Amino acid sequence: MKKIAYWVVGIAIVIQFIRPDFQNPKIDEAAVLNTDPKVMSLLKTSCYDCHSSETQYPWYHNIAPVSWVMADNINSGRKALDFTNWANIDPKVKSERLTRAKQLVNNEMMPKSEYLLLHKNAVLNDEEKKILEEFFDSQIQDI
Ligand code: HEC
Repeated sequence: MKKIAYWVVGIAIVIQFIRPDFQNPKIDEAAVLNTDPKVMSLLKTSCYDCHSSETQYPWYHNIAPVSWVMADNINSGRKALDFTNWANIDPKVKSERLTRAKQLVNNEMMPKSEYLLLHKNAVLNDEEKKILEEFFDSQIQDI
C-alpha cells in the first residue's frame, strides 16, 4: 500500500514539470471589440477568459492536470472566437460564429459548465442572455 502512495505522490509531482505556456498573446489595439459597456462587461466576465487575449489566470492555473485542461480551453477558445481580435476576423467566419454564439448562450452551452463551477459570477441570467443575443444580432447585421 505504501508503495502505491509513493507512486501517486511521485506522479503528481512529475506531471507538474509539463507546463503549458500561459503568456497572453500581444493585442492589436485597433482590432479589439469596443461596444456598449453593459455588453462589454458581460463578455469580459463570462467569455473573455477563453475568447480573448486578456485571459485572467486563477491561482490554480499552474497545477497539472488542471493547467492542461485550461490551456486546451484557452487555445481552442481563442481560435474559435477572439473578441480582442474582432476587427481582423473574416466576415463570413464572424457571421457563422455569431449565429452559433446565440444558440450556445441560449442553450447554456457557453460559458462552459466546467468553467462555471469555479466562476459563479460568469453564469448568465435570462436578462443577460437577452442583452448578449441582441448584441450578436446587431453584429450580424453590421457585417
Ligand atoms: C472555459 C472556456 C470558455 C468560456 C468561458 C467560453 N467559451 Fe466559448 N468556446 C470554448 C472552447 C474551448 C471552444 C472551441 C471548442 C468547442 O466548441 O468546445 C469554444 C467555442 C465557442 C464558439 C464557436 C462554436 C462553433 O461551433 O464554432 C462560440 C460562438 C463561443 N464559444 C461563444 C462563447 C461565448 C459567447 C461565451 C461567453 C458567454 C463563451 N463562449 C465562453 C471555451 C469557452
